[in-house]
Amino acid sequence: MNKIEELQSKIKEAMLGGGEVRIASQHKKGKLTARERLQLLMDEGSFEELDMLVHNRNRGLTTDQEQFPGDGVVTGYGTINGRLTYVFSQDFTVYGGSLSEPHARKICKIMDLAMQNGAPLVGLNDSGGARIQEGVVSLGGYADIFYRNTRASGVIPQISAIMGPCAGGAVYSPAITDFIMMVENTSYMFVTGPNVVKTVTHEEVTSEELGGAQTHATKSGVTHFACANEVECIQNIKTLLSYIPQNCEETAPVYPYEGGNELREALNTLIPASPNQPYDMKEVIAHLTDADSFFEVHKDFADNIIVGFARIGGRSIGIVANQPAVLAGVLDIHASVKGARFTRFCDAFNVPLLVLVDVPGFLPGTDQEWNGIITNGAKLLYALCEATVPKITVTTRKAYGGAYCVMNSKHIGADLNYAFPQAEIAVMGAKGAVEIIYKKEIDSAPDPETRTNELVADYTERFANPYLAAEKGYIDEVILPEQARAKLIKGFKMLENKVVNMPRKKHGNIPL
Ligand code: HXC
Repeated sequence: MNKIEELQSKIKEAMLGGGEVRIASQHKKGKLTARERLQLLMDEGSFEELDMLVHNRNRGLTTDQEQFPGDGVVTGYGTINGRLTYVFSQDFTVYGGSLSEPHARKICKIMDLAMQNGAPLVGLNDSGGARIQEGVVSLGGYADIFYRNTRASGVIPQISAIMGPCAGGAVYSPAITDFIMMVENTSYMFVTGPNVVKTVTHEEVTSEELGGAQTHATKSGVTHFACANEVECIQNIKTLLSYIPQNCEETAPVYPYEGGNELREALNTLIPASPNQPYDMKEVIAHLTDADSFFEVHKDFADNIIVGFARIGGRSIGIVANQPAVLAGVLDIHASVKGARFTRFCDAFNVPLLVLVDVPGFLPGTDQEWNGIITNGAKLLYALCEATVPKITVTTRKAYGGAYCVMNSKHIGADLNYAFPQAEIAVMGAKGAVEIIYKKEIDSAPDPETRTNELVADYTERFANPYLAAEKGYIDEVILPEQARAKLIKGFKMLENKVVNMPRKKHGNIPL
């Protein structure tokens, strides 16, 4: 074999990972291989692989180990929609994609390159966790990755796709990254699997129930996306990247937008006359944003708040919106945490924020109080106070009490605050307010119910409107709903060069 043939043979061997039989087994489970996934993810012909010939150790700590070039992970760089991206894709056909020391070193190498060159990192995870034969060096490898994930947080976007098992400490690298996507029925995330759970807590639970995509999309909120299959998952990664910049020094790409008639008359009738009647805030979002541009994040978790990316006049924005169609749009623990995390991502990566407000307040009750609605509600408050990106608020209807302050009020640094004429900006709703301040009068009235209704009508007339806030300048303009889109296009353009200098500090201490 000459030198050229020798290299070709090594490459051929590496391309096969754990071999034909294990590749067939991967396909049988409904999963693609590490390289097939990369082919779907990266622009054609753009992927440059590094460390293809890195081997696992000759001897494990306990046994002789079979040798596989690449050692269970394919790493490198290329482009996604023409933009530089660093990527690793774990190869389940080699020791179940488990993480050895060389495997970790390969991942760290591209993480360092991603940081130094200011481009996103995408991880396609499919791994049985720490390589058991390697012992502590594989734990060290994980820790090396966690450290880099944390250093990179807020510097470059980091996206984790979970495309197979993800057990033990392995879940913590994805958890530190900005977005997690899971694939239904083939991916799992848990700190300990069903067997350990049974031993320790005597609970019987399947992998799917314990840590499948639906569980983490709806119950824990660990994953931001539950994807029907791997192809959808990879498409979601590409779509997500299209809304965000390469790094914290840049802004997201602006899409061509020709403009046209920006009046949205349907908005005038979308908000019901009765403040107690629900409507779907996603319809408001659809009218305000460029056609089909809304890309919802965390769709199945805490759906009393909506978060996601969209474009307005071709510019990328992040949206945080109360959803009056679910629990009247009340803020609870999960909604606050969801809104806070998304806000912080947008702020870290220069994505302007649009906040849509229709909120009756924070959810009362022992469950919420005992589980820390105070600390958790404060996360959303802190995140919006801290955000220095352009911030515009549209109050479509209710903005009551503390939730008024929290939802990007003028006082916490919003740049432009608009309200629809239906807006009710007050300390609380009319009935609650009247029952407190007129308690004695109502109790002593000959017909308490009639008197209550009269007082509610009077309070509604005087306080349940946007005009007191507009008189103070807390609302910059009360607008016809149909004008909102045009105002937002102009507003975000006006704010595009916004600069805010923060007080010097190491970092803030968000209530965790
Ligand atoms: C070495 C492993 C491995 C591991 C799987 N394999 N996990 N090799 N270290 N952690 C190997 C198997 O021996 C097998 O090799 C191949 O990968 C495929 O595994 P199967 O079990 O046949 O596949 P499947 O039935 O799909 O089950 C996948 C699995 C299961 C659910 C991941 O293998 C499993 O439970 N593995 C152990 C998970 C685990 O406990 N990991 C350690 C977690 S602790 P062959 O040669 O047959 O192809 C941890 C600590 C990190 O990660 C801490 C960081 C701080």
